[in-house]
Amino acid sequence: VLRFLPLITLLALLSGCGKDGVSALEPFGEIAREQAKLMIISFSIMIIVVLVVGIIFTYVLVKFRKRKGQEEYIPRQVEGSAVLEIIWTVIPIILLAILAVPTVAKTFSTSDTTSKSVTKDAVVINVTANQFWWEFEYPDDKVVTAEDAVIPTGRNVIFNITSKDVTHSFWVPALGGKVDANPGQTTKLRLKADENGTYSGRCAELCGASHALMYFNVKAVSNDDYKAWINAMKDGASEPTTASAKEGQALFKNNCMSCHAVDSKDAGIAPNLENFADRKNIAGFLDHNKENLEKWIWDPQAEKPGALMPKRGVNNNLTKDQIKQIADYLFTLSVED
Ligand code: CUA
Repeated sequence: VLRFLPLITLLALLSGCGKDGVSALEPFGEIAREQAKLMIISFSIMIIVVLVVGIIFTYVLVKFRKRKGQEEYIPRQVEGSAVLEIIWTVIPIILLAILAVPTVAKTFSTSDTTSKSVTKDAVVINVTANQFWWEFEYPDDKVVTAEDAVIPTGRNVIFNITSKDVTHSFWVPALGGKVDANPGQTTKLRLKADENGTYSGRCAELCGASHALMYFNVKAVSNDDYKAWINAMKDGASEPTTASAKEGQALFKNNCMSCHAVDSKDAGIAPNLENFADRKNIAGFLDHNKENLEKWIWDPQAEKPGALMPKRGVNNNLTKDQIKQIADYLFTLSVED
């Protein structure tokens, strides 16, 4: 075992275990679990087919090989065997039926977003994909946020998904998916989380230079915490108290607010930042600290190629100190106690 330890460790790392990971084979919710079962059924059938074909193939290779000193010869040719033809027609039919029945059934049950049993306790979230970030709107509560969606654990969440620009795809591997986000169209996805936790999300459709950085998070919290969060978002973020953060707020108003809203009632052409300080990442993927935020504001494209945010530092009028003050301000934008 020791000899294989590095290999096992590597495999464990690659498989991305846990909620944070992006393994659809480690489900943390009803939909993902059903999808994982389907993958295992299909994969098992494929393995059996490959094995059987491989064994027959190897047998034929060995049995009909040219032996030493043997004359060239052609083995007996069989033409038209009703029995064989029936066998190799019926077996695939059976295999496809075994695959089709659960696949069709589960496809209908997991994509059900309209029946009473699903909608009665469901939370609705409108998702808008943008190059290269995600907006989440809670239409029943008129709350808008970005990058991190908050959902109640154990309840159905129905995502209405669309795109502002090109085709993206909404995927939370541990919870299920994935569904395309198409401009001018709304697609639906139902997810449900078993446990509280932060689940990592991905864009799963090549959408431009920073497709691979178009991450988001889904935070599942208890139902009470979810309601408290919605109310806190309606109340707004706390006001800055330090001198630096206040300076930053003024700078933000002059330089950033034509695109970024800090009130959850407003959608914007850039991510809503009302609860920026509570998020897990900056721009969806950078570690959440001031140093990264300053780097981001200084030159967003250096971090995320193709990002639409102007370079505030490199070729704009903001100094390092001013960017630091804006970062101080943004880190006060919290709705959590
Ligand atoms: Cu958005 Cu890939």
